[in-house]
Amino acid sequence: MSNAISEADARCALWVDVIFRPSELTTDRILEKSVVVFDVLRATTSITAALAAGVSEIRVFKDPQSAAEAGRSFGKAALLCGEITCLRPPGFELGNSPGDFKRELHADRIAFLSTTNGTKAIIAAREAAAVLIGALVNATAIAQELISIGRNVTLLCAGTQGNYSMEDAIGAGAVIDALFAKGAATPTGDAARMAHRLFQSAQSNLRETLSDTTSGENLRAAHLETDIEFCAELDSISVVGIVRDNPLRILNPAIAAK
Ligand code: MLT
Repeated sequence: MSNAISEADARCALWVDVIFRPSELTTDRILEKSVVVFDVLRATTSITAALAAGVSEIRVFKDPQSAAEAGRSFGKAALLCGEITCLRPPGFELGNSPGDFKRELHADRIAFLSTTNGTKAIIAAREAAAVLIGALVNATAIAQELISIGRNVTLLCAGTQGNYSMEDAIGAGAVIDALFAKGAATPTGDAARMAHRLFQSAQSNLRETLSDTTSGENLRAAHLETDIEFCAELDSISVVGIVRDNPLRILNPAIAAK
């Protein structure tokens, strides 16, 4: 299959860069760009699922203590959620399982979220012109939103404890694939080409591929296999979380536009 786009498309195409680990992030790679943060297993999938379930906003924190303090001082509408070593922190209402967000229980609540890698990557991206929350579950919706914004793109993989995460690179590749399908992107280099090829090679087998990663192993050890299945469902959700600052939070674009 050729990734070539027509000369006319190329003239209006977005340039796409990929950062595989937050330690590779430099200001010049995100300033004036649309940045999409990926923590496919599981933070950015959970955030997307929470918004789809009607959670009105998600405030993100670098550690569970900060989330708990902010949530408790906020009051009863606060939904404390997150993980430490994949598990729900003591005293939190929810862990980091995307399937646990339910409209009947959580609609219109404000979530206070801390996870090991995902929320830190979102915090690291906050200087970008636009920050979106990406996952396999909303890859095509992300591509559409990036086209609407019209800025060049950096896809930021949250990684795992500073190391590469294959599932995040696959998520980035899925968005590149969707941009290519719309004739709307050109890779700026081999990082984007690598992510796209990785997605193409995993596309027919996403569940097994996600399961066979470091994060997948950790989730299986915690008996959270159903979370892997949820996270592997390509384009099952059309919501795109967008980040706003002061306080740092993620909104549904329908609400952010108001
Ligand atoms: C993270 O932020 O590191 C992940 O979302 C961990 C997890 O699977 O809960």
